[in-house]
Formats: sequence, structure tokens, C-alpha cells
Amino acid sequence: MIKINILSSTDRPGSMALNISGYVAEILNEYAEAEIFTLEDYPLSDVAGGKYGNTPDSVMEYNSRFLDADGFLFVIPEYNGSFPGVLKVLVDYLPFPYALERKPVSLIGESSGAFGGVRAVEQFEQILKYRKAYIFPERMFIQRVDKTFDPYHGLSSEVLQKLLDKQLREFPVFVESLTKQFV
Ligand SMILES: Cc1cc2nc3c(=O)[nH]c(=O)nc-3n(C[C@H](O)[C@H](O)[C@H](O)COP(=O)(O)O)c2cc1C
Repeated sequence: MIKINILSSTDRPGSMALNISGYVAEILNEYAEAEIFTLEDYPLSDVAGGKYGNTPDSVMEYNSRFLDADGFLFVIPEYNGSFPGVLKVLVDYLPFPYALERKPVSLIGESSGAFGGVRAVEQFEQILKYRKAYIFPERMFIQRVDKTFDPYHGLSSEVLQKLLDKQLREFPVFVESLTKQFV
């Protein structure tokens, strides 16, 4: 069975990103082995002062656990019209160049505002393209997340819930097809 690691892409305690990660993991587990990671556990204080080229053991350990998967699902909140800075820190300390190269990546954006994290996701996609990841084209943007998402029942909109289910059902197929192609 393929393994998909989900990243709740913020270190904010009590984030909706982590709630959504838990909800989508339940669904993904029907098709794959899904594991949740959160940037709340990222050893951020260990990279203070700039440890580039001298990655601390704690970060190497986080990276190797996170990278041990066939595919990745990033759940990304919008902070100041972009993705959280701690997500960029994670990427800046991933092994270069191979960490995300040819790795299938799926994306979910979410925000309390009206655009559902589309800016955050699309800006992060630029980085994923630079790191040569394979981006799954079906994406979900959860707008007004505090009103439209419930950790037990999912999205209040039936139409959007169907699209989310489709994304989660089809991403493992995408991962599997790429895994077969490049072994
Ligand atoms: C530092 C910060 C910046 C934010 N900037 C935006 C923003 O630009 N647009 C927006 O719609 N919501 C913004 N929000 C609100 C988040 O969308 C809201 O907290 C939502 O629950 C998703 O974030 P979460 O996963 O941390 O809960 C911001 C929140 C924080 C903490």
C-alpha cells in the first residue's frame, strides 16, 4: 500500500490546518496509508541564527520521517496573502536537490477569508515547481473555513465535499501511477 504523508503547514496551536489534516487522513486511509505531520513539531528554534549547510540533527530527523512517503499532501492556511513562513523554513532545510524531485504532491488551501488560501497554494506551487515536484491538478480551497468546515462532518457545501472526496480518492491513483513509472 502506498504511503502519503500529510503536512499541517503551520505551527499555530489549534489551527484549522491540523483539524482538516485529521479529517482528510480518515478519508485517505481508505486508499493509502496516511500519516499526519504538523509544523507545530518542527524544531524551529534549532535553526535560529541560520544553520544552512549545517542542518541540526533534530531537523534532519524531522525531514527524514516526513520524506519517507510515496506522496505528500500539504494543507496550507493563508497568512498575509501567502503561506506560513515556517513552511518555507521547512523547505529551505530539506535536502537539495532531491527531496521533492518527481514526488507527487497534492494541495489543500484554507482561510478565514473569501479566497480559501488560493494565493497561499499557488505561491507554494512555484516553489514545488522549482523543486521539481509533480503537482496533482485537483486542488481544494476552503474559504471561510471557520464557518464551512467541521472536523466531524467535513464541508458544509455538498458540491465542495464531493470535489474534496474526488481529490482524496484520485490522488493515491496519481501517486501509484508515478511510483510504477519511476522505479
Ligand atoms: C499570521 C496570520 C495571518 C493571516 N492572514 C490571513 C490572510 O491573509 N487571509 C485570510 O483569509 N486569513 C488570514 N488569516 C486567518 C487564517 O486564514 C485563519 O486563522 C484560518 O483559520 C486558517 O489558519 P489556521 O490553519 O492557522 O487556523 C491569518 C492568520 C494568521 C495567524
